[in-house]
Amino acid sequence: MLSFPNIYKYTLILTIFTAALSHCSSTSPIQQSQNEEAFSSTAPSQPPVDPVIRRDGQTVYIEMTSQVTDIEISKGVIYNAWTFNGTSPGPVLRVKEGDTIVFTLKNKDMRMNHSMDMHAVHASPSSKFIDVMPGEEGTFTYPASNPGVFMYHCGSKPTLAHIANGMYGMIIVEPKAGYPSDHLVDRSYTLVQSEWYKEHDYNSFVNGEPEYVVFNGNTYTLKEHPLLAKVGDTVRIYVSNAGPNEVSSFHVVGTIMDRVYKDGNPRNIEYGIQTVMLPASGGAVVEFTVTEEGDYPIVTHQFKHVDKGASAVLRVTKDGKNHGGKTMAH
Ligand code: CU
Ligand code: CU
Repeated sequence: MLSFPNIYKYTLILTIFTAALSHCSSTSPIQQSQNEEAFSSTAPSQPPVDPVIRRDGQTVYIEMTSQVTDIEISKGVIYNAWTFNGTSPGPVLRVKEGDTIVFTLKNKDMRMNHSMDMHAVHASPSSKFIDVMPGEEGTFTYPASNPGVFMYHCGSKPTLAHIANGMYGMIIVEPKAGYPSDHLVDRSYTLVQSEWYKEHDYNSFVNGEPEYVVFNGNTYTLKEHPLLAKVGDTVRIYVSNAGPNEVSSFHVVGTIMDRVYKDGNPRNIEYGIQTVMLPASGGAVVEFTVTEEGDYPIVTHQFKHVDKGASAVLRVTKDGKNHGGKTMAH
């Protein structure tokens, strides 16, 4: 098994060898070893930069920033995360089927390259999902022609490190004609499941177990501040599993999903689902009705991951407001 440092050692040896042979290596051994250090070290935390999103007709201009920011992944546990815009997951993006996305990535991380891989678009990865150098920016244009709930993530190498360190998020491409059940939905939420491993430890990303499995980035926010609904409401959740390594068995305790649109495509409709299988990078739109007051835990039914944090709470009250009190989480 090649651990990350070993890959670098071999690359380094190969680079020196190639350079000695041809004098035309594009990456010097010095750059390589600086990179190696950057991957395992912590960087000063940069305050979150807001994304800039602007629509002009059917063109949506999205500007995002790759940056390093400390975030609290569990109570008192800070992770020096690689992020889009200073949060992990990054901002939820919304466009419409048929839009053209003009995407700009500004790389504020002065130590390494970052990039953007949008699952929502058709594009040539070798020209549109490419690295943006430290301190620079890159602009890429692509069509959003398929409706759905998609993952985006940094695709720079090694991609596993960029995702495990926090560089992912959700993009929703709303169907042109909407979902057939739009008129039934009273409220909607977005959830991204993901894993946190030992900080910056590539060997742990490859061979280890996650230390935390979370919804929307940490183990506690959605327990302390539950999602809300009113008795009788139909609730829609846009859900995505960022991984990087685990699947999600997405389940809402106390209800059955009336409709599930796999990957959020209105044509992929299934009825009466108890648990939705989300592969790493998979998504769905799920809808269900809550018939009684109470706290409904939202989990992945792989319960060892619930023990590691993957549990949110949907609180259902008579008026849809939160009247306080400790939540019943799993
Ligand atoms: Cu990255
Ligand atoms: Cu991907």
